[in-house]
Amino acid sequence: MTMSGRPKSAQRSAQPGLAASLKQKLIQQALQRKLDQAARPVPAAAGPREEIPPAHYRFELHPGYQQVRILSEGAAAMGLPSPFFKLHEGSAGAATRIGGRSYLNFASYNYLGLSGDEAVNAAAREAIERYGTSVSASRLVSGERPVHRELEQALAALYGVPQAVTFVSGHATNVSTLGLLFGPRDLIVHDELIHNSVLQGIALSGAKRLPFPHNDAAALDALLAAQRRRYERVLVVLEGLYSMDGDYPDLPRFVEIRRRHRVFLMVDEAHSLGVMGPRGLGIREHFGLAGSDVDIWMGTLSKTLAGCGGYIAGEAALVEHLRHLAPGFLYSVGMPPPVAAASLAALRRLHELPGRVAALQARGAQFLARARAAGADTGTSAGLSIVPAIVGNSVKAARLSAALFERGINAQPILYPAVPEQSARLRFFLCSQHSEADIEQAAQALGEELAKL
Ligand SMILES: Cc1ncc(COP(=O)(O)O)c(C=O)c1O
Repeated sequence: MTMSGRPKSAQRSAQPGLAASLKQKLIQQALQRKLDQAARPVPAAAGPREEIPPAHYRFELHPGYQQVRILSEGAAAMGLPSPFFKLHEGSAGAATRIGGRSYLNFASYNYLGLSGDEAVNAAAREAIERYGTSVSASRLVSGERPVHRELEQALAALYGVPQAVTFVSGHATNVSTLGLLFGPRDLIVHDELIHNSVLQGIALSGAKRLPFPHNDAAALDALLAAQRRRYERVLVVLEGLYSMDGDYPDLPRFVEIRRRHRVFLMVDEAHSLGVMGPRGLGIREHFGLAGSDVDIWMGTLSKTLAGCGGYIAGEAALVEHLRHLAPGFLYSVGMPPPVAAASLAALRRLHELPGRVAALQARGAQFLARARAAGADTGTSAGLSIVPAIVGNSVKAARLSAALFERGINAQPILYPAVPEQSARLRFFLCSQHSEADIEQAAQALGEELAKL
């Protein structure tokens, strides 16, 4: 395989190493110039006789597509393979198979190994036998099946709230929910590291959007003291466990702020369900809070719950409203029965297997300690299921990922614009099926490859 980004000469002596890094710097600068140029708007034709600029009617001249091409050509010029769209040949958990070779896998959020679990597979197969592969309609009309209701009851019980509703996509759950519930006279305040789906939902709602510094409850408090009375409804959005950094908010402080300022509080549990709390019930269990301390519990079925889709859990007035009017629910097909059945089975397995949650938390703590000892900048990670190794720029992150891949370790680089360029990183997802030896091997390889960067 020619996966390494490092020219052979760079490994032998310092002099060619310097030349190679100078070349990389020049390529990077040229890349940045091209990106800046591609981002410049092309003015529209001013007069009736003026030619319409080709950029306004050809997709290959779209600035977004230009950016994709410039980045992939730049990576090729530096001898870096694309880290994206790797073809996994089976189910991906602690290990995976790519291109006929086995890898230790740290790139999938199959936190408790429930995607691929025999009981979960069997539930999906049974649901296909009974209901087919599609419900062929929106739930509101003729797409409702018993498995949808069972799943939603189980999710509501998980949070100790009256109701829950599921959507066919986690991303669409946030977009549709925020787009429906809030409008131009409202304010949505969010942690600066909040997921893209929340930002898209806010944009759709037309509400005023204000970020606050990551996990900074005091800054939020001050912001609300200054802003609350200028708006009608105000929503604060947090994540239970932040997907890029692996840290979490001091939720009780945010709950207290919610009460004092009379605002709604929403927590996106995409990465905290199955991961936080002694039984994996999420950040609510971790802090021992009541379901009613948070107005909107949101989560996804695509991580711990081994399916695809999202949910909102909360009071009846919230869920009933969404079930009748949220566009991503009302105007979209109901969740395919095998997917709903798989997530329901995974939720039952979560309750049956607290030992897996404990194993995941132990492996996370082990990886965090070992990666730090090996010299990795793990940022603010709490060492649960997500540990970044922050390397400082996208090229270094892509090179590190390629070097580990060559050693049989699959860890995804997170590059600009997914994170700011200076915090480009590798992100390690841990799962309960990783062994202590897997963690040792990965942390050691990470340390060795970091030293060569
Ligand atoms: C915090 C967060 N919210 C929402 C989503 C969207 O969920 P899905 O991928 O299931 O659509 C993600 C996806 O990874 C996420 O990390």
